[in-house]
Amino acid sequence: MKKITLKNGDKLTALGMGTWFMGDNERYRREEIAALRYGIEHGVNLIDTAEMYGNGRSEQLVGEAISPYARESVYLLSKVLPHNANKRDMEYACDNSLKALNTDYLDMYLYHWRGSTPLAETVEALEKLKSKGKIKAWGVSNFDLEDMEELLALPLGDQCQVNEVLFHLGSRGIEYVLKPYQDKHAIATIAYCPLAQAGALQRNLIENPVVNAVADELNCTPYQVLLTFVLAQPNMIAIPKAGRLQHMKENIACLDFKLSQEQISRLNKAYPSPTARLHLDIV
Ligand SMILES: NC(=O)c1ccc[n+]([C@@H]2O[C@H](COP(=O)([O-])OP(=O)(O)OC[C@H]3O[C@@H](n4cnc5c(N)ncnc54)[C@H](OP(=O)(O)O)[C@@H]3O)[C@@H](O)[C@H]2O)c1
Repeated sequence: MKKITLKNGDKLTALGMGTWFMGDNERYRREEIAALRYGIEHGVNLIDTAEMYGNGRSEQLVGEAISPYARESVYLLSKVLPHNANKRDMEYACDNSLKALNTDYLDMYLYHWRGSTPLAETVEALEKLKSKGKIKAWGVSNFDLEDMEELLALPLGDQCQVNEVLFHLGSRGIEYVLKPYQDKHAIATIAYCPLAQAGALQRNLIENPVVNAVADELNCTPYQVLLTFVLAQPNMIAIPKAGRLQHMKENIACLDFKLSQEQISRLNKAYPSPTARLHLDIV
């Protein structure tokens, strides 16, 4: 499976598994666990969760899903909320995540979005968790260019491995300056909402005639075209959430699709790359 190597040497599968809203509804729990296990058994190593998701319910579900497997076979990423991203509260928040996930370390811990704590204090707290072995690496999420510049100017700011941001065919703002900046500084981009939340964020994506024509040519669904487009980006990891087993299978199948230059040109024409700086999209 295609892998992205981080600057610390960690290898993440280019396709990861999102888990927002997983564990929120008992009716879907069994299938959500089956979907995550299918992913793991088919070579996906990255699971993206957060203390915020269902107030720990997503982390608990992930903990249950990974329980039959060797810990090293999964790459666990969780996130700390802004109000916990300080010297006083971060370790407690991390301990809660570890408990919910039933593990003793996180492979990656992200600062979910920027709050009021001085960035230097957050970095210090993240590094402390790293030195204690509770996290192996850290990164950020929803950071725009100025945030990344401020971070990388700090002592040990260069320990940041990834920035997780919104990116899909219909929201390509990061291509203008943020993604090139991250590439230059060897910071990998994790794309959240690669399916635009099944089109909910931008309904016209799923109905778009170009997306549908490309889907017909690849013999796949419009959703798979969206994911294949994100997977085709260099130094980028896509983390679609699939609570349904069928969706997980379709997402893994995307790793075998290849968009031709001509198909990419048509998609670029329908949804152009930005020609000016845009504000970072968030959900
Ligand atoms: N860092 C952040 O601030 C942030 C923000 C948002 C999201 N995230 C992370 O990114 C992950 C992905 O984002 P997201 O969950 O918001 O949106 P998404 O992955 O773009 O879309 C998820 C939706 O797409 C559906 N789906 C999945 N595969 C499909 C397929 N092959 N065909 C049709 N529909 C499909 C899912 O349905 P089923 O579940 O029913 O299969 C679900 O309704 C999250 O789960 C979370 O881990 C991070």
